[in-house]
Amino acid sequence: MLPFQLLLLGAALTPAHAVTVYGVQGVLQGVATGGASASVTYTSDTAAGTAVFDPGNYTGDAAFNPVILAPPPLPSPAPPTQFTVQLPNNAQNQPGLSIPQSGSFLGFSIEMSVVTQVIGLNSTFLQVPFLNLMALVAERGGSVRIRVGGNTQETATVVPSLADGKMIEKDKEDSSNPTETPTLLLTPELMYMMNNISALVNVKWYLGIPFNDTSHLRLQIAEYGEGILGDNILGFQLGNEPDLYVAHDHRPPGWNETNYFNEFGLVIDAIGEDSSIPVKNNLIAPSVSGTWSPEDVWNTGFIPAYQSSLGALAVEHYPDDNCAAAFPNAGFGPPKDPQNVFPEYLNHGAGQSIVAPYIASTALAQTYGKPFLMFETNTASCGGFPGVSDSFGSALWGIDYGLQMAYVNFTGALIHVGGVDDSYNPFTPPPTNMSSFEQWTIGPIFYANLVVAEALGTSSTSQVLDLNMNGGNTYTPGYGIWENGQLARLVLINFMTDPSGASSYTATISVGGVNGESNATPASVRVKMLQAESVAVKENITWAGQTLGGRFQADGRLQGDEDVQTISCDQTQNTCQVTVPAPGVALVFLTDEAFEESTPSTTQTFATTAVTKTANTATVPASVLATSNGDSGADRESLTSTSKGSSGASRAIVGAPGVASLIALLASVFVFASAARR
Ligand SMILES: *[C@@H]1O[C@H](CO)[C@@H](O)[C@H](O)[C@H]1NC(C)=O
Ligand SMILES: *[C@@H]1O[C@H](CO)[C@@H](O)[C@H](O)[C@H]1NC(C)=O
Ligand SMILES: *[C@@H]1O[C@H](CO)[C@@H](O)[C@H](O)[C@H]1NC(C)=O
Ligand SMILES: *[C@@H]1O[C@H](CO)[C@@H](O)[C@H](O)[C@H]1NC(C)=O
Ligand SMILES: *[C@@H]1O[C@H](CO)[C@@H](O)[C@H](O)[C@H]1NC(C)=O
Ligand SMILES: *[C@@H]1O[C@H](CO)[C@@H](O)[C@H](O)[C@H]1NC(C)=O
Ligand SMILES: *[C@@H]1O[C@H](CO)[C@@H](O)[C@H](O)[C@H]1NC(C)=O
Ligand SMILES: *[C@@H]1O[C@H](CO)[C@@H](O)[C@H](O)[C@H]1NC(C)=O
Repeated sequence: MLPFQLLLLGAALTPAHAVTVYGVQGVLQGVATGGASASVTYTSDTAAGTAVFDPGNYTGDAAFNPVILAPPPLPSPAPPTQFTVQLPNNAQNQPGLSIPQSGSFLGFSIEMSVVTQVIGLNSTFLQVPFLNLMALVAERGGSVRIRVGGNTQETATVVPSLADGKMIEKDKEDSSNPTETPTLLLTPELMYMMNNISALVNVKWYLGIPFNDTSHLRLQIAEYGEGILGDNILGFQLGNEPDLYVAHDHRPPGWNETNYFNEFGLVIDAIGEDSSIPVKNNLIAPSVSGTWSPEDVWNTGFIPAYQSSLGALAVEHYPDDNCAAAFPNAGFGPPKDPQNVFPEYLNHGAGQSIVAPYIASTALAQTYGKPFLMFETNTASCGGFPGVSDSFGSALWGIDYGLQMAYVNFTGALIHVGGVDDSYNPFTPPPTNMSSFEQWTIGPIFYANLVVAEALGTSSTSQVLDLNMNGGNTYTPGYGIWENGQLARLVLINFMTDPSGASSYTATISVGGVNGESNATPASVRVKMLQAESVAVKENITWAGQTLGGRFQADGRLQGDEDVQTISCDQTQNTCQVTVPAPGVALVFLTDEAFEESTPSTTQTFATTAVTKTANTATVPASVLATSNGDSGADRESLTSTSKGSSGASRAIVGAPGVASLIALLASVFVFASAARR
């Protein structure tokens, strides 16, 4: 039971029932509509800035849990709300900057067993919302890095084909894994599908290869991966969380770092002799998750022994777990109360404490010239915490944590995407038993991927500094980003929730006039704001005025008009004042180039109706169109002109019955979409 358990007077959370929401003090807060397409009218408590919504007995999928926690109370003492940030323009005058980072820094890790739900059924049946979402990130950061793997990769086996033309088959009974991940059979179609995604959007991939049994190796994922994906494959993760193998019964008790070192060598030898794996130097390891420290592995001599086979070093980490709630009888003890853990995510110390144990390793990686990746991460393992992992607060956490990793010289980090049992997903397709027109749910943390991509841009020269601003106050962190050696952007975060406006802060920014530089503050700056009413909400999140839509409402495209603030600076005083709401994130562009680089002038989108809904497209009732968004003519052109990747699309348009009505449908969707844009 949550401390802020609501009284739902006489109303179950069933579709279309209006429920009265009572808040912390039992005061009427507002009105909510429950059910699958629930939208909560969220109003704030005058005293504490809190409102909560909790159906209590919700038993549906975690990914769609409507619970809304109370935002944590304001900190006491309150942070100063006026302070200065003065930075040199030239990177050479600023000590402590990170290595150059790429806009693809924050990518995704997709559990191998859920690719059919999230990415596509096969090479010709791709999930259009997924394509749209990846296009958004790729346009901002240059490309998107996605790992397909996870616990399920350990038991994955490639077979030539499966019954009914399936690409992936799960065999749950075989699983002896406490995380209940299934044994997987997959066909090479998976790699064809991934390659076809890359033909449409600039996505580069990591694949996991099994390490569950090094005396009977199954290297087919690497063989097919190299053969089919070629340059679109970034590397192969060998061994996922080997430090948990004993706990997961993949290895006998006593199996240790030395055993891991030796077995890793066996696989390298096998790859060396496998002519179907032409690239021998792109393995990713050790992917330890905290049971072993990276040093436990380095101390075996791992890096010098295997450096010619390693493409990147990697770790995995979740700062907390919700295992007790996810597995009630597995000895994890009493479940943690999400309300109590919520504040732990809403400060700068959260990200700092995650990265601290890895800073020595990112430095070590540099000495070997190796990238250092956070290969799988999210708010909490075992599905995350409902109300925390799917709140606006998770977006703030993801931005601060992502930029903190960039600052301490990680070279990339992958936000994990699980299934409908998880609260933390950046995006979730509708449950399969819902009608096909019900659409996707975008997790707030997805906005972290967008914002970090824009903050780092496409040049792969961005150097990040934790500004330690406002006296290092943990609720008001900020980052500076130097690109091509010049200060280009600032990211200013406000973790507090205060509808009164009193906790908004104003940073007075000065460029130059420090470290031997003359004043260099521009005449004006542009600011994009990430905003929502509270850290606790799940909907109505806007990035520069645009949103991806509420639960079951997203097709992966930003909706609404873009709203970019232009703030005039005082060049006499050498100052610019930027106000950051509580809660919110401001991305401040200090130059036109930085702004233009991060702001796509056109967005590549994909017709919802074209790629995935081949046969039944023409029969979608008109009423459904109102919940669906279409696609511009130009985009359709780019789709049909992409020969193979869009072969499903082209075939659907050419070959499906009722072509005329399909075209008419697309046209009317286009009209609707244009109208909706205003
Ligand atoms: C949830 O709780 C409410 C109020 O106690 C009750 O009326 C409703 O039947 C419950 N719904 C389910 C699905 O158990
Ligand atoms: C989102 O904002 C719109 C417009 O202000 C409002 O009508 C809607 O109820 C809000 N939805 C939620 C879930 O707060
Ligand atoms: C992909 O899946 C769709 C839907 O099940 C099917 O119609 C199509 O034939 C499949 N294509 C391939 C190449 O397997
Ligand atoms: C490894 O996984 C494969 C495929 O699921 C399975 O057949 C095999 O028994 C596993 N080996 C070990 C040692 O767990
Ligand atoms: C692992 O276990 C073996 C056998 O007990 C032992 O020789 C070795 O030192 C251990 N390695 C580590 C890193 O503890
Ligand atoms: C990151 O790497 C750069 C370049 O080697 C170094 O100067 C800086 O101190 C590193 N940052 C951290 C936090 O280790
Ligand atoms: C979908 O399945 C879930 C779980 O079996 C069930 O609770 C829900 O009512 C179903 N929804 C529909 C629309 O059938
Ligand atoms: C898409 O997948 C099919 C295999 O089903 C393949 O023939 C085709 O070449 C792929 N297209 C691209 C662009 O990779």
